[in-house]
Amino acid sequence: MHHFEELSAEFAGRFAQDHFPQTPASLYNPNRYFLQLGGKRVRPVLCLMGNELFDDISKDAWNVAIAIELFHNFTLIHDDIMDHAPLRRGMQTVHEKFGTSTALLSGDVMLVAAYDYLNKVGPRHHATIIHLFNKTAREVCEGQQLDMDFEKQEVVGVNDYLDMISLKTSVLLASSLKMGAVLGGALERNQNLLYEFGRKLGLAFQVQDDYLDAFGDPEIFGKQVGGDIKSNKKTFLWIHALDAANPEQKAALLELAASNNPSKVENILSIYRACKADEWAMELKERFLNEAFAHLEDIAVLSKRKEPLKQLAQYLVQREK
Ligand code: IPE
Ligand code: IPE
Ligand code: MG
Ligand code: MG
Ligand code: MG
Repeated sequence: MHHFEELSAEFAGRFAQDHFPQTPASLYNPNRYFLQLGGKRVRPVLCLMGNELFDDISKDAWNVAIAIELFHNFTLIHDDIMDHAPLRRGMQTVHEKFGTSTALLSGDVMLVAAYDYLNKVGPRHHATIIHLFNKTAREVCEGQQLDMDFEKQEVVGVNDYLDMISLKTSVLLASSLKMGAVLGGALERNQNLLYEFGRKLGLAFQVQDDYLDAFGDPEIFGKQVGGDIKSNKKTFLWIHALDAANPEQKAALLELAASNNPSKVENILSIYRACKADEWAMELKERFLNEAFAHLEDIAVLSKRKEPLKQLAQYLVQREK
């Protein structure tokens, strides 16, 4: 069994190949720029770990892992346009550096490149993989639309928030694991347990993402701290603060959200702290991580084989970037 460090290093080696033609450079260089910024490569590693839980890592699993990482990077390029994000992975976002129109097209062509890798999957599992991949991609779009819709709503319930982050974030982690399991010949019951492990892990992962967006160290985080507050994102921090706030704090939150106050981020952060929204992050992560681990326990393979996944899960909810 291989751990995160080994698998991500080997994946990085294989992923370093050029995925795009030379010309027009104005279309493909932005993608090369973006991929070279790195990233944690979590999703491809989940696919490889899902595969290795049941069998030796197969050629199909490597190709699917590459497809998944290309798809993820496509969603990030478009997400940064939607979120008006200036920074990603410590560097300028693609639309900031190359313009929005180019970022749209470079993202589109990155998605097409992902399908070239999916197409390499052998006939035995081809249809299953495409079906799962497409279902996931559609759900990510749904989640991303809900995320934007919520910017315009003052009040969003915690269950609506969880449904939204499940779609925009969790399903890709979950299906990365499941695609690996499918290719490893896992029984359907085990495939589905692994999917549910990934879905709950994804909720904890997005809670940590939202936490870092507000409270992360700008030197380490690599994205603009406070970006979610600027965009009026309905994160669990907002939802919890609004719920826990006294009438005065509540009025201040709503007024700040509607304003262009230059101290908006700072002032909302201090209300978040006063309402202990940051402490709630720890509780939420713990709850979802425990639920994730319960699904992992139920998978019928030797528990020793699950160690890399457990370690990776712990890292993902404690990461600082
Ligand atoms: C960012 O994903 C998008 C979310 C779903 C929160 P990652 O945090 O995995 O981003 P990279 O690929 O490591 O940069
Ligand atoms: C993005 O969620 C999820 C997808 C890219 C599908 P966020 O908007 O919170 O991700 P970051 O924080 O920009 O990485
Ligand atoms: Mg974003
Ligand atoms: Mg977003
Ligand atoms: Mg975020």
